[in-house]
Amino acid sequence: MNKIIIAIDGYSSCGKSTLAKQIAKELNYVYIDTGAMYRAVSLYALQKGFIVNNVLEVTKLLAALPSIKISFSYNLAQSKSETFLNGVNVEQDIRTIEISNHVSKVAQIKEVREKMVDLQRAMGDDKGLVMDGRDIGSVVFPNAELKLFMTASPKIRAQRRFDELKAKGDKVSFEDVMANIVLRDNDDTSRTENPLIKSPDAIVIDNSDITQEEQFELALNYAKNII
Ligand code: C5P
Repeated sequence: MNKIIIAIDGYSSCGKSTLAKQIAKELNYVYIDTGAMYRAVSLYALQKGFIVNNVLEVTKLLAALPSIKISFSYNLAQSKSETFLNGVNVEQDIRTIEISNHVSKVAQIKEVREKMVDLQRAMGDDKGLVMDGRDIGSVVFPNAELKLFMTASPKIRAQRRFDELKAKGDKVSFEDVMANIVLRDNDDTSRTENPLIKSPDAIVIDNSDITQEEQFELALNYAKNII
């Protein structure tokens, strides 16, 4: 079978990673969550005290950039990929609302993006890859054989993310989650460096009114038509 690269882009909390994981599992492909990489850089900036009163000290982060190592490792027992920052498993720590509130500022920095894009491209050498993010079809793999662009109404996305965080025991309000989604949509689409855009050759999936299973069937059919 022909191995391809599947690029999944779209707005925050659209279920990109859920779909990407389902497809990767079905096709026996590698799944890479690029949002986790920007989240890990944000965690590093917070841990090092480079974010003061909500303001990121960009010069300090840039000076430290060469010492930030991000990697993924597959947790067999839990059947999931986990994110490592300088050798430490940070999978839980990068999923908090605090990180969500800083990540889109960190992701605007040109040098941070260049470093992440280089890492991401190296992961595609052998194809057989499903990667999700904001600029995968437009910048990281413009020649990806299949590009999906996912969207859903902001209210539906906020409700899904709120339910997810609540289930994990996070004490957040729906209003805070909604505000974060609006902020990130705005930051991600308006930034100069690799903004979130739909590539002309991407297929749009609006999952506001379809189930996860329906979405999976749809996407898998697109992939199987190419493979
Ligand atoms: O996908 P996730 O919501 O975890 O991504 C977190 C943030 O990382 C996004 O809001 C966006 O600012 C940034 N990001 C990006 N480019 C990517 C993936 C994520 O700018 N390819």
